[in-house]
Amino acid sequence: MHMVRQDCGSCHGMRMTGGLGPALTPEALAGKPVESLAATIYHGRPGTPMPGWRSMLTAEEAHWIAQQLLDGLPDAAR
Ligand code: HEC
Repeated sequence: MHMVRQDCGSCHGMRMTGGLGPALTPEALAGKPVESLAATIYHGRPGTPMPGWRSMLTAEEAHWIAQQLLDGLPDAAR
C-alpha cells in the first residue's frame, strides 16, 4: 500500500484524486470491472503514460490493488 501511494501517487495524486493520470477514487472507478482495472495496472495502457507493472507486481497483486482502489484506500479521498 505504501508502494501504491509512492509510485502510483506520482501520477494519480497522493490521495488518488488525479494528477497526470485520472482519479482512482471509488467514485471515479465505480462500475468498472476489477478485472479490467487489474489488467490496466499489470500491462499498462499502450499509447498513454500509464506504465505496466509486470516487472514489480504479480497478477494477483495487481488484482488486489484494483480491489483496494474500488473499495477506497483506507485514508484516501478524505
Ligand atoms: C507515469 C504516470 C503513471 C503512473 C506512475 C501510474 N499511472 Fe495509472 N494511469 C496513468 C495514466 C495517464 C492513465 C490514463 C490512461 C488512459 O488515458 O487511458 C492511467 C490509468 C490508470 C488506471 C485506469 C483508470 C480507469 O479509469 O480506467 C488504473 C486502474 C491505474 N492507472 C492504476 C495505477 C496504479 C495502481 C499505479 C501504481 C502501481 C499507477 N496507475 C501508476 C498514469 C500513471
